[in-house]
Amino acid sequence: MDESREKIAKMIGATKDEIVFTSGGTEADNLAVFGIAKANKDKGRHIITSKIEHHAVINSCKALEKEGFEITYLDVDKYGIVNLEQLERTIKKETILISIMHANNEIGTIEPITEIGRIAKKHKIYFHSDTVQSIGKIRVDVKEMNLDMISISSHKLYGPKGVGCLYVKKGTRLKPILYGGEQEHHLRAGTENVPGIAGFGRAVELAISETEKEVVRLARLRDRLQEGLKERIRHIIFNGHPTERLPNTLNCAIQFIEGESLILKLDDLGICASTGSACSSASLEPSHVLLAIGLKHEVAHGSLRLSLGRDTTDEDIDYVLDVLPKVVEELRAFSPLYKEFLRKGGKP
Ligand SMILES: Cc1ncc(COP(=O)(O)O)c(C=O)c1O
Repeated sequence: MDESREKIAKMIGATKDEIVFTSGGTEADNLAVFGIAKANKDKGRHIITSKIEHHAVINSCKALEKEGFEITYLDVDKYGIVNLEQLERTIKKETILISIMHANNEIGTIEPITEIGRIAKKHKIYFHSDTVQSIGKIRVDVKEMNLDMISISSHKLYGPKGVGCLYVKKGTRLKPILYGGEQEHHLRAGTENVPGIAGFGRAVELAISETEKEVVRLARLRDRLQEGLKERIRHIIFNGHPTERLPNTLNCAIQFIEGESLILKLDDLGICASTGSACSSASLEPSHVLLAIGLKHEVAHGSLRLSLGRDTTDEDIDYVLDVLPKVVEELRAFSPLYKEFLRKGGKP
């Protein structure tokens, strides 16, 4: 456990006593939001987050709203970048926390974390970032970025599931959300998941040694996939920032088809994909992230998220480029919306 703590701390520029092990990213996010709220409510009850956070942050904030906290959900632009002017404007003396994710899990957009950190520091407000998606893919340095807390999940780094951590800067006023023993500097009661933590540490070690090479490889494959889809499928919109984006994420909206039908067909053909975030692929609601970047309901419903990883090869990209356009054509043949579009003179 000690070795893992040290490896994780080193990766993010922290010290090992600033690492609090949790059961994963969700618990780390909950600990950050509720922990700051409970410990600082005498100072104020206002929290700023964004409309595109993971549900672990958004739903924690919604629960706090029911307890009388005021939450500002910042808008994002069409690429998913938070509005920094709105952030500065909404800060008030009661603001106790800013929680903005580093990279979005659905569209891959990378937020201007260093600038947000500067703003938070200037106003002496705690700053938490959900770095579950970015850790291991892009550099995170808690000091350079002025971060007081970050959430990490082991399985996003190919470590075991069910373990993660919250980095908590020394001196942060935070209360636990679980009560019991005195583990994890009194911040997370309960016997630690030792095998999970050991695996987490090893996964971090491997991620550090492979990141630079892997990021270049993934971005090349992702770009080839995007270009190939653009050439082969008409009426396709790519979501997320064109450059400020994780190397492994490709999110697109394919017009005139139902995302759910697409996913089922792709699944039969051995392609794992999702319409929204993988965590909510069982939900039929359009993704809150796609709605926040301004997509209409029907377009958001036709969205597809393809994530690349360590096992993705050039052959996999070729296979998707071969199969996906055919599936889209098949589904469009049954689409009343597409027929209507063609009837009105739209180009097939
Ligand atoms: C951005 C983000 N935050 C939090 C989580 C939740 O992490 P965990 O699955 O470890 O609870 C996820 C999804 O796994 C995620 O993508």
